Amino acid sequence: MSKLWNSDLETGIPEIDAENKKIVEYINVLSKAKDEGNRTELVNVLDLLLDHVCNQFLFEEHMMKEAGYEYSKAHEKVHELFAKKLADFRGRIKNGETFFDDVISMLDHWVDGHIRNEDQMYAETLQVKITQEGGESWVQGVMKKLFG
Ligand SMILES: [Fe+2]
Repeated sequence: MSKLWNSDLETGIPEIDAENKKIVEYINVLSKAKDEGNRTELVNVLDLLLDHVCNQFLFEEHMMKEAGYEYSKAHEKVHELFAKKLADFRGRIKNGETFFDDVISMLDHWVDGHIRNEDQMYAETLQVKITQEGGESWVQGVMKKLFG
């Protein structure tokens, strides 16, 4: 069954919501590859997802720090562990181990735990900073600074 995006996953910060939405899309592509038993596709999509989350975490963490979010260090640690776990799954699947269900289940938990709850926790602090700095143009500026 497809994983669906819904409004209770939103932080209200369009750039972050767009990034989180992409994770849900990746889960659906991975689920299809899993159902088809297509290991090559799984590994390829996991590569793309890893690249995506590393960039997204860099962006999120930068914004949290700039906003002075109290729990940014703890949030960063959670990101780091998730990226490590994802890379580990990717390596094991590439080496022939079958962790298809485990990787999908981990990603489901990420959406329903981290995105639904933990990402919401910094949203208010970030919104204050965004308003102070002149709105969306500040967010766009941060993105440009980080990714060109
Ligand atoms: Fe996060």
